[in-house]
Amino acid sequence: MNQARGEWSSKFGFILAAAGSAIGLGNIWGFPIQTAKNGGAAFVFVYLLLTFIVCFPVVMTEIAIGRRTSKNPVGAFKELVPKTQWSLVGKLGVLCGFMILSFYIVIAGWVFGYFVEVTGGGLQRLATDGEFGIFVGNPYKNLLYTGLFMLATIGIVVGGIKNGIERWARLLMPTLLLMLGALIIYVMTLENAGKGLAFYLIPDFSKITVPVVNSALSQAFFSLSLGMGALITYGSYVSKKDDIISSGFIVTVLDSSIALLAGLLIIPAIFTLAPNTTADTIQAGPGLIFVFLPKVFMNLASDVGYFFASFLAAFFFLLISFAALTSTISLLEVPTSYVVDEKKIVRKRAAILTGGVIFIIAIGSMLANGASDFFTHFITYPSGSDKDFLSFVGDVFFEMCLPLGGFLLSAFAAFRWKTQNLREEIAQGRENYIGSILDKWISFIIYLCPFIIFFIFINTVLAKFFDIVLF
Ligand code: PFF
Repeated sequence: MNQARGEWSSKFGFILAAAGSAIGLGNIWGFPIQTAKNGGAAFVFVYLLLTFIVCFPVVMTEIAIGRRTSKNPVGAFKELVPKTQWSLVGKLGVLCGFMILSFYIVIAGWVFGYFVEVTGGGLQRLATDGEFGIFVGNPYKNLLYTGLFMLATIGIVVGGIKNGIERWARLLMPTLLLMLGALIIYVMTLENAGKGLAFYLIPDFSKITVPVVNSALSQAFFSLSLGMGALITYGSYVSKKDDIISSGFIVTVLDSSIALLAGLLIIPAIFTLAPNTTADTIQAGPGLIFVFLPKVFMNLASDVGYFFASFLAAFFFLLISFAALTSTISLLEVPTSYVVDEKKIVRKRAAILTGGVIFIIAIGSMLANGASDFFTHFITYPSGSDKDFLSFVGDVFFEMCLPLGGFLLSAFAAFRWKTQNLREEIAQGRENYIGSILDKWISFIIYLCPFIIFFIFINTVLAKFFDIVLF
């Protein structure tokens, strides 16, 4: 192991950091939106199925490639299959990290901004209809909050592996879990929560359509930080002695659990706080948590007083900010480790340079909600839908490139690297792995993964951009 690159202090450190990367806005902001948009429980069902059948083997592939090579995604492919074009897969990952961070950090800035405004006494205002639109349309607030978020992200990435990323994850993730649990219990006591619960938990299988499957796969990839080499990068700091299969599994379970809990909070909250909501009229859009969380806390204010409710709301937005921060760190870590390893630039300069360029690209997303006409109506797809810059970057890099990366990674593992190498790497640190049921299952499913993912990928592209639904 190359100590100069840094290494997690323990297996637990890796699990926390990888879970920190996985758990973020994708779970708390994205998952409830996708669930509301895609028919509720049917989406949740497909999401879980895809997470464990298709995504978990890809999680293992990424961690194994990272640990085998101790390299960033580009270097890893160069080492495993020198002088081939496979390192392009790593480059695609680095580009994805770059572009995903450019919109992710803007949304993280909104969350942080809500924390600041609630702390300043603004809870009641933020709980008013229309307020979210005013907030995101303000270019100065966007610049300020996104800028602060980027500075924090760069600061921690500069701090390196043990001192930066791991220490924060260790402290804040468990607190987030506790607070989510407490809020769910509160929302369950409100009127109409049962209707939301039914929408969320009782699947109507006729709602499983191709677009639902597409969204579930993209969401699962995004949520697990998969398909762009983030787990290759984090895996590259894992010790040879560690059992990566249990780490990978724990991360997958933690990630889906937090997504499920966030859904369990937000979906019933919509039904209780917007009295006319039905399964057909349920709200789904980027403003979802920003509209409903302040309303939940305002509701709470009638029981515990405005001051205490504001305190809890501020604390909750702060925790979501931290969850987002452990993800922005990993998003920046991918391009940074590439620049450090491949371009031989020191970590500090590399992080500042990459973070700075991403911030400049992010300006497009900051202005995409009304502040600039150009970025608000950035592009019209052949299907006729008009997209702002933030949504466009999301469609291309989150919905399309992550599954594409997942397809290429699983195809690489199955047909180029060969499953024997994958098995050997997974077996390091876990006695009796070879020949176990898990081994047989992963070795089998990894051959199917490229086909399943490719099929869904093609459908996503056609549906998203051209409005063509094949099946
Ligand atoms: N998994 C993160 C989330 O759910 O918020 C987003 C993410 C982080 C995607 C890191 C990709 C990544 F490399």
